[in-house]
Amino acid sequence: MRRHGGGLVNPLLQRALLAAEHAGEFLLHQRPQSLAVESKSTATDAVTEMDRASEALLVAELVGDGDDGVLGEEGGERRGTSSVRWVLDPLDGTVNYLYRLPVWGVSVAAEQHGEVVAAVVRAPALGVTWFAGRGEGAWRVDGDAPARQVHVGTETDLARSLIATGFGYDANDRIRQVDRLGSIIGVVRDVRRAGAAAIDLCWVADGTVDGYFEEGTHHWDRAAAGLIIVEAGGVICGADGGPPTDPMTVAGNTSLAESLATLVSR
Ligand code: IPD
Repeated sequence: MRRHGGGLVNPLLQRALLAAEHAGEFLLHQRPQSLAVESKSTATDAVTEMDRASEALLVAELVGDGDDGVLGEEGGERRGTSSVRWVLDPLDGTVNYLYRLPVWGVSVAAEQHGEVVAAVVRAPALGVTWFAGRGEGAWRVDGDAPARQVHVGTETDLARSLIATGFGYDANDRIRQVDRLGSIIGVVRDVRRAGAAAIDLCWVADGTVDGYFEEGTHHWDRAAAGLIIVEAGGVICGADGGPPTDPMTVAGNTSLAESLATLVSR
């Protein structure tokens, strides 16, 4: 066990931190001049050779010939026989990566008996890593600085809240999402669409933004960042206040998440 500012880093978290560092450095430094891009769910849903290579690197390092399970954005599900499953988004913010915008990252969560117990989101081009172990708090590392514990913001008034969000890749979904946005943007301080759901959620965890909502995310987008938010004292939930769902994820401090969930449910 290694100490960071008084908190203990559990062994799964240590493995997640190392693997995310290796995948992040690979994505940052090995990006080819011209990237091979394919479409996934729609023509605008890009997957690059680097998404796939990053996932392969993470799986090789975290699982290898071992018996842990994996759920990865690019590789689907591999059942394991141990109590551990790794939930991976090997490159969250693929479109930003494609355009050399810096908001992209690697998301690694370790579930034990179905519960996320260790989480890392690493954003190499921003020089930031967020991590959490269950019961060990949420932490942010900027460059070479020591890890500092982070907490969600304290704003409870929607009118003074900066809200992060994102859009899906399907054109009809996007049109519907923008309709919903129309009823939200006049109520909050403003809205940001940075392009990587895991980073949006970590920005909620460290108080950079006040809240977040998005339709159509997946477990791998929010598994790691979800624990980071909870350990930062926040809430990640669905439209009904229960666990987050693919149709709707909302996050913020307890009061703001509740108000935001009510707002997006109208
Ligand atoms: C996407 C990004 C985007 C969000 C989408 C995600 P990907 O992940 O996080 O910000 O709006 O919902 O699918 O496809 O770049 O891994």
